[in-house]
Amino acid sequence: MAKLWGGRFEGKTDRLVEQLGESVSFDARLAPWDIRGSIAHARMLGTCGIITKSDSAKIISGLNAIGKTITAGKFTFDPAMEDVHSNIEAALVKRIGAAGKRLHTGRSRNDQIALDLRLWMRDQIDAIDERLRDLQRAIVTFADKHVDVILPGCTHLQHAQPVLFAHHLLAYFDMFARDRQRFAELRKRVNVCPLGSAAMAGTPYPIDRKMVAAELDFNGVTTNSMDAVSDRDNAIEFCSHASTTMMHLSRMCEELVLWSTQEYAYIEIGDAFTTGSSIMPQKKNPDVAELVRGKTGRVYGDLNALLVLMKGLPLTYNRDLQEDKEPVFDASDTLQLCLVVTAKMIPSIRVNRARMKEACRDGFLEATDLADFLAERGVPFREAHGIVGKLVLYCTKHKKRLPELSVEELRTFSKVFDANALTAIELDAMLRRRDQPGGTAPRRVKAALKRAKKSL
Ligand code: ARG
Repeated sequence: MAKLWGGRFEGKTDRLVEQLGESVSFDARLAPWDIRGSIAHARMLGTCGIITKSDSAKIISGLNAIGKTITAGKFTFDPAMEDVHSNIEAALVKRIGAAGKRLHTGRSRNDQIALDLRLWMRDQIDAIDERLRDLQRAIVTFADKHVDVILPGCTHLQHAQPVLFAHHLLAYFDMFARDRQRFAELRKRVNVCPLGSAAMAGTPYPIDRKMVAAELDFNGVTTNSMDAVSDRDNAIEFCSHASTTMMHLSRMCEELVLWSTQEYAYIEIGDAFTTGSSIMPQKKNPDVAELVRGKTGRVYGDLNALLVLMKGLPLTYNRDLQEDKEPVFDASDTLQLCLVVTAKMIPSIRVNRARMKEACRDGFLEATDLADFLAERGVPFREAHGIVGKLVLYCTKHKKRLPELSVEELRTFSKVFDANALTAIELDAMLRRRDQPGGTAPRRVKAALKRAKKSL
């Protein structure tokens, strides 16, 4: 095999080096962005008189034609040509001849790959934003449909206080809203053009970086050529935000798994998003939710791979940087797939509202409200807490629930109790009372639902 960029060599490249060094098997997917960047570069070279207008035009139409062959799946990428950049450049020279050899004037693969990555990432961020919005939409619609469902809210996975199911679901809505903000902030940093940094020191040609940036819809140009070709913190941030979003997805899926168990039996996930067992005929397993939870680990791995990849790299470009692609592609693909699947799974869920309400009978969900009842009538909260603690112990011993106690029984613990205490601990009353911004009072949750819908 002839050597790539081999002018200064006498010997050939070892076969194994080709295998180790090729990236086209995974970076070929950058072709549409690579071509778009090359077209902008070629147009600028022509306009600035660095190459002739006619060569520039030939390059642009050649690149467009190659783009079409690639989209049609009729382009053969050759691993001997290392990467997507060299494959496309070689195809261009083959197609249009000498003019094609002028495309790489004033440019290096180092700023070219930095450009491709930013262009690609910008589009992925936009796609992720849409997918997050679709997921938020699915959550709001689902919450809206179950706006009167009540379940025990937990801390430490122990029953704590009753909440509206919609309130619980909207917690995830808010997490995904912040994820979208994070990606939107990253988009601003990604949206800066590195082309013109060339190998690492800039270029002596009278290029017009701003022209290229404008054609590619960038917001400006990078300010240091050495940084521009060697930094990958955008990719790290991308994987970090992907990891955080996966973590949120994973927590939600973990709850779906728990709620699907025979012990909880709060929900049943639809047939399309559950699977059977090869041996146990009765099984309906929440595999989709489990897989999303599981894939979270691999996205964390992608982030870690990039952090470790970068930590020892001296300025500027080092070939190690080629290893950035697989993790960042994997994080993006995994996240997007999980977002789409989860959004589709949510409407398939059947909610067992009776079971959720029944669960509110266990775990003394009324305890805080009873203490509040005393505190509102002048008992210092800390004392009220102790009194109700004793009440709970009494109930445990007598196998009773707090609402089953008589006023007389209550009054043996505190004379401040009266009949109103029992109405205060009805489920609806407890919910209604949490009527502060961010609380689970039905009025507040309905307003939150409205706000959520409006924000989409
Ligand atoms: N395939 C390379 C990468 O992904 C492109 C840049 C190559 N530059 C170089 N000096 N070898 O990083």
